[in-house]
Amino acid sequence: MGFATDCIHAGQEPDPTTGAVTMPIYQTSTYVQEGLGKHKGYEYARTQNPTRRALEKNLAALEGGSDAYCYASGMAATNAVLTLVKAGQRVVVSDNVYGGTHRLFTKVLAHYGVEFAFLEASDAGAFDAAAGRFDLLWIETPTNPLRRVCDIAALSAVARKRNALLVVDNTFMSPALQRPLALGADIVVHSTTKFLNGHSDSVGGVAVVKDPAHAQWLQFYQNAAGAILSPFDSWLVLRGTKTLALRMRQHEENGKRVAEYLRGQAKIRKVYWPGFTDHPGYVVQRRQASGFGSMISFDLGSREAAARLLETVRLCSLGESLGGIETLISHPATMTHAGYTQEERDALGIGDGLVRISVGCEDVEDLIADLARGLEKV
Ligand SMILES: Cc1ncc(COP(=O)(O)O)c(C=O)c1O
Repeated sequence: MGFATDCIHAGQEPDPTTGAVTMPIYQTSTYVQEGLGKHKGYEYARTQNPTRRALEKNLAALEGGSDAYCYASGMAATNAVLTLVKAGQRVVVSDNVYGGTHRLFTKVLAHYGVEFAFLEASDAGAFDAAAGRFDLLWIETPTNPLRRVCDIAALSAVARKRNALLVVDNTFMSPALQRPLALGADIVVHSTTKFLNGHSDSVGGVAVVKDPAHAQWLQFYQNAAGAILSPFDSWLVLRGTKTLALRMRQHEENGKRVAEYLRGQAKIRKVYWPGFTDHPGYVVQRRQASGFGSMISFDLGSREAAARLLETVRLCSLGESLGGIETLISHPATMTHAGYTQEERDALGIGDGLVRISVGCEDVEDLIADLARGLEKV
């Protein structure tokens, strides 16, 4: 089946009891059993829930995985995947990943004897030479917020050489634009809060796997630790993925128009978007993805200038998060990347003048007019 067909139908058979075309919200904590050990495959809702399972099957199909497990947030999914790593092992992470991922790794999981190293990964050869031994490689591509492109296939070869796993946080692209498992990744993680749900009304996460042994562990851990996605949130994300293919086409079109507009503005020092033909990752992005995404960062030079724009725009809502149908605009240094120290942000190039925009599906002329109003105040 094609991608849009899978978005609408994968994992979603009409309800066997009533024929309801939409997967019902199974809002129950437990299930009646016919006798000891005799039940319909559902015992307790932390362990199994039909709405959650339908979403998991849907997302596994969209990412081309063998299975998927949904958690209470993107961070809970990230944490679940990191339980595949044991004390004494080493994890290498592409730098400028989401600040919450950096915080979880360095301030929580490092306490359990796992070593973390953050490395520039947009040049796979240089990365290979510098990375040393590792057991798991965690990347985002294009990176957040500087939109550097990592070559998934090349990094999967680098990981394979070390017998290590490659995990890709695909939140920014969604499977509509990029399918890392087909390029050699072992596991894909998403904050479903973003493009997959798409309507800014649910927090959730998913890990999609290829290997049945990983599926078995992540299911076991989901039940053991209990950070499950609720039935209602599962239903919301299922409703969101039905329109994923449609939404992503509009995000892509609007993203391109906004990036080109921003690049033409004298007050903007630099625009970060991998769809510019002179972007260093352009060729790799074209090869490994079917689009460039609608996440754009741009540098206004100072915190004051960024604040003036952010406090003037109206249609672009100032807020954390991304991937909603509505345009969101944010200030990485004080919002998404506040978990990094000032020195770490300086080293990465995440300056105080940097603004990130998640371009939504509004009429693009309205978005450009709003940004123009904001730029007048800078
Ligand atoms: C790329 C990326 N991964 C993971 C997360 C964490 O997801 P959540 O907020 O659903 O826990 C975020 C949140 O912004 C993100 O941007």
